[in-house]
Amino acid sequence: MIHESQESSLSNTKETIFIGVAWPYANGYIHLGHVAGSLLPPDIFSRYHRMKGNKVLMVSGSDEHGTPITVRAEQEGKTPQEIVDFFHAQTLKDLDSLKIEFDLFTRTTHPNHRRVVQDLFLTLLERGYIYPKTTTELYCEKCGRFLPDRYVTGTCPYCGQEGTRGDQCDACSTTYEAMELIDPVCRLCGSTPVPRETEHFFLRLSSFNERLLDYLEDKGHWRSRVWNFTRNWLTQGLRDRPITRDISWGVPVPLEGYEGKCIYVWFDAVTGYLSTSKLWAEKIGDPDAWRKFWLDPKAKSYYFLGKDNVPFHAIIWPAMLLGLSEGKGEDYNLPYDVPANEYLRLEGEKFTKSGGIGVEVARFMRKYTSDEVRYYLSIIMPENRDVNFDMEEFRVHINNELVATLGNFIHRVVSFTARNYGKLPHAGELSEKDREALAEIKKAGEQVSGHIEGCEFKNALKGIMSLAAYGNRYLGERAPWHLFKSNREECRTVLNVGMKMVKALSVMAYPFLPESMSRLHSYLGFDATPDWEEVFRDFTPARYSMELPLPKPLFRVLKLEKKKKQDEKRAEKSRKTGLEHLDLRIGLVKEVKDHPDAEKLYILSIDVGEDDSRTLVAGLKPYYPPEGLIGRRMVIVCNLKPARLRGVLSQGMLLAAEKDEMVVFLTPVAEEAPGTRVSGHIVSPHSPPQEITIQEFSTVPMTVRRVEKVENGKIVLESGDELDAGELDTTELTGKKVVVVRGGILCAGKGLVVPEREIEAGARIR
Ligand code: MF3
Ligand code: ZN
Repeated sequence: MIHESQESSLSNTKETIFIGVAWPYANGYIHLGHVAGSLLPPDIFSRYHRMKGNKVLMVSGSDEHGTPITVRAEQEGKTPQEIVDFFHAQTLKDLDSLKIEFDLFTRTTHPNHRRVVQDLFLTLLERGYIYPKTTTELYCEKCGRFLPDRYVTGTCPYCGQEGTRGDQCDACSTTYEAMELIDPVCRLCGSTPVPRETEHFFLRLSSFNERLLDYLEDKGHWRSRVWNFTRNWLTQGLRDRPITRDISWGVPVPLEGYEGKCIYVWFDAVTGYLSTSKLWAEKIGDPDAWRKFWLDPKAKSYYFLGKDNVPFHAIIWPAMLLGLSEGKGEDYNLPYDVPANEYLRLEGEKFTKSGGIGVEVARFMRKYTSDEVRYYLSIIMPENRDVNFDMEEFRVHINNELVATLGNFIHRVVSFTARNYGKLPHAGELSEKDREALAEIKKAGEQVSGHIEGCEFKNALKGIMSLAAYGNRYLGERAPWHLFKSNREECRTVLNVGMKMVKALSVMAYPFLPESMSRLHSYLGFDATPDWEEVFRDFTPARYSMELPLPKPLFRVLKLEKKKKQDEKRAEKSRKTGLEHLDLRIGLVKEVKDHPDAEKLYILSIDVGEDDSRTLVAGLKPYYPPEGLIGRRMVIVCNLKPARLRGVLSQGMLLAAEKDEMVVFLTPVAEEAPGTRVSGHIVSPHSPPQEITIQEFSTVPMTVRRVEKVENGKIVLESGDELDAGELDTTELTGKKVVVVRGGILCAGKGLVVPEREIEAGARIR
């Protein structure tokens, strides 16, 4: 909780944050790859910082010049202007439909932008950072023109990728000159171009090499792939690069004698960050307002982009800013962080506008809500590796997480409260559990905050979802629906705590899910965008007198299409081997020896009853010392085909749960005698079972699940699945982790079989 005095000291520590977002080319519809890669992360980031009360300026625009545009225009028989007008307008609509908000989203064809680019060009020219030079470029004799950038294709000189373009490789992101391409071909007519002399302006990148290495020094907070990539480039030595082109669509070189030449689209586009900040300042009627974001050394600038944009933002733009900083004693801030994302792939392929691969936002948004899309793209965000986009997985995530975990928790609390009290109930005395729940809120709030500030959006959202899952467990354990009959005061307390959790979740989830969360905020009587500290605050007295009408659910369940068929297929497959084919027995560990030839293996002697004893080879050594195993009871697969493991015959296998590097063996809760049969609580194994192979065994799915509650003879799992309780003793089952198989919950004798230690739900048995 926060006190007035703390609040005022907090406001002194407000930060100033500039957010630059890579400018999408106005040569096609934006697709989900743009959203996951560069557009959504800064929106989450800026919403969070605005809730914290920090000063934020977030800008971007349409990248409207250069060959990406002219190629498209030529293909369509339109003028470049027609192309960019159409797609700029479309992009604005798409951003709006996704609730991605900028302080200003402009375009590189804006006259203000052209002026700033030309000024910067002339400044760097005057300072000797730009110089003219006669050079050779590829020229197509048949077409009678130079072939800049996308007008030529060939093989990448660095990675060997074929069919790549003239300035940057699609595959390895290396940038180079068209002259370096292997086997170049004119994209227009297919003939082989020839080198021809022409005059261009070069950016003296070589003179920034040392300074950029220094700059990189204290950037340990960068994503390691971005940092390494940049560092690699710099240590290889920067070469001067031409930054003008023989092309007529772009910002003209502002010098006489250079008609028909334009500034390279990348020099042009990155300057948009600065030009747009200035334009924004003019528009808000405070023409100097941009300065505090660019010149105050305490301001931090973040640039959000896809990995192919890294060289331009981590090297070229900083170099340009260094050149601009000399002279007037004005130091422009270099990027503080460049959290570039990897790619979102569609069935394994990179989304590209030019390749026509992708799910267009405009098309997608006809069927889905902004929060659905934002949820899925955030929970799979390609922060550290390429990620596959999958339609069916999208719906499953929405149903199982957004609806069944977050939406469900909120709805359970709010609707129960509204129905039975119509107002926020006051808390009475807190139990241990209630205090723990409040502590969980605080812990989650701090973690989520840390993740967002560190640009780890996926982890932040996972933190929010675990709090929601915790909330569901808390409700299950405290069961306010029972307390409502037995103990009114406790019931009010639980709902009060539950509502605090709802409030905290709604604040934390707002940057990710602005549409539904602002609806919830209004329902709870807050501003649509409350401040972040609301996560930690108590309810004010006024809050208790507010009416709470019956709420509507925040999210909807999506229909699964392929899923049903897939499940049927899977069921068909696993019908071949089921629990009924396994001879599972309780075994008692008699002896544990190190495997002579394998570091991670033990050789175990196990008593499996009926005078039968087995030798098992098991990879438990990294997880248990021998004394943690001797005398313990385990579950042994006794009809597995014996297999030699590093020279020692293993006559069976023990069952262990595995998740995220954790391995925990399964054990009966009661001291069952060795040889006791292990089965599902509904399906029992036939006997005698036949020998099975390890492959057959692996088609029997067994997973650790947590029981959320038992209701009307049904066991409800946290995963949302339900099982018939059958004859199972369900007292004290709620909250337990059990092993779920087709055929029920794993049991031995009268008791359960459970993981020997704590392990997360979802762990698989192998
Ligand atoms: N238009 C480029 C792309 O889509 C990105 C330009 S980012 C900017 O890859 F900073 F240069 F504008
Ligand atoms: Zn040609």
